[in-house]
Amino acid sequence: NNSMLASVTCTAPVNIATIKYWGKRDENLILPLNSSLSGTLHQDDLKTTTTAVASESFEEDALWLNGKKEDVNSVRYQNVLKTIRSRATKLMDKKHFVHICSINNFPTAAGLASSASGYACLVYVLAQLYGVEGDVSSIARLGSGSACRSMFGGFVKWEMGTKADGSDSIAVQVAPESHWPDMNIIVLVVNDKKKETSSTDGMQRSAQTSAMMKERCATTVPERMVTIERAIQEHDFQTFGDITMKDSDDFHEVCATTDPPIYYLNDTSRYIMNLIHRYNKLAGSVRCAYTFDAGPNACIYLPQESVAEVLSLFLKHFPAGEGVQNYYRGTDEVFAKVN
Ligand code: PMV
Repeated sequence: NNSMLASVTCTAPVNIATIKYWGKRDENLILPLNSSLSGTLHQDDLKTTTTAVASESFEEDALWLNGKKEDVNSVRYQNVLKTIRSRATKLMDKKHFVHICSINNFPTAAGLASSASGYACLVYVLAQLYGVEGDVSSIARLGSGSACRSMFGGFVKWEMGTKADGSDSIAVQVAPESHWPDMNIIVLVVNDKKKETSSTDGMQRSAQTSAMMKERCATTVPERMVTIERAIQEHDFQTFGDITMKDSDDFHEVCATTDPPIYYLNDTSRYIMNLIHRYNKLAGSVRCAYTFDAGPNACIYLPQESVAEVLSLFLKHFPAGEGVQNYYRGTDEVFAKVN
């Protein structure tokens, strides 16, 4: 087809926050109230695959997510598209539109960070298509805050920044994929339905009403960021796991102290939390650590040496089809690796 200008395909993995982003200081630019930190999964595990095609024969911009047409006129898609086009070094001479197809290999909007891999992937393909140079994590951030952290592998922090224009609110790699090769993540899909309270609504309400937010943003998170970064550098799983669970607990406490309260966890989630605390206590050390985003599904960080035992523990407590619907798996069909 002569009118075809260009096509780019890429995949982007999900990231799982250990220090949670919750609350914005600017809703339009998506600037957070606190810095956050996450591990990016391996490319082959939970991921989005996106293709973008630019053509003169298209009559409008269009986007399909898992085969369903989305509204590209939403503020977030428009902010991303406009920013990409304003920084373009390619495709500038001819009038054209883009068609974008995006597919997740895991449940969308179930608290499994689908927006993170989704916008990271979208921004990456568009940046390739349009020849955008320099940091593009700040463009991914315009789509979904946590997406900026999926622009890098390994462990990644999103520095909240202080500038009003958001130019210093960017993702920075703390350690590459190769740094902690025996770190794993097991995902327990408790429920794959769409969550009731979107993170956008939830954050806004928490920032306005939860009395816990002030201290969390002023001292708790800044201190944890320093400690967890050091733990990652030193491969200190005890500290890493301890902070990861505490920050997840605090995040859900913030939600519970929001008016009206938001409950993302369910009985199965709490059962998993108890199980992990009991197991760690019996082992006499932190052998695995849970974290929950805006949904009931558990993400379990654990070093390779714990994988066999922890998996057998989960399989014993959740035989297939009872409560936990699925285990997400890496190459050996058992678990998702964090790098
Ligand atoms: O990027 P959003 O708007 O989907 O928000 C994500 C918020 C949490 O997943 C709960 C925490 C985080 O840091 O990923």
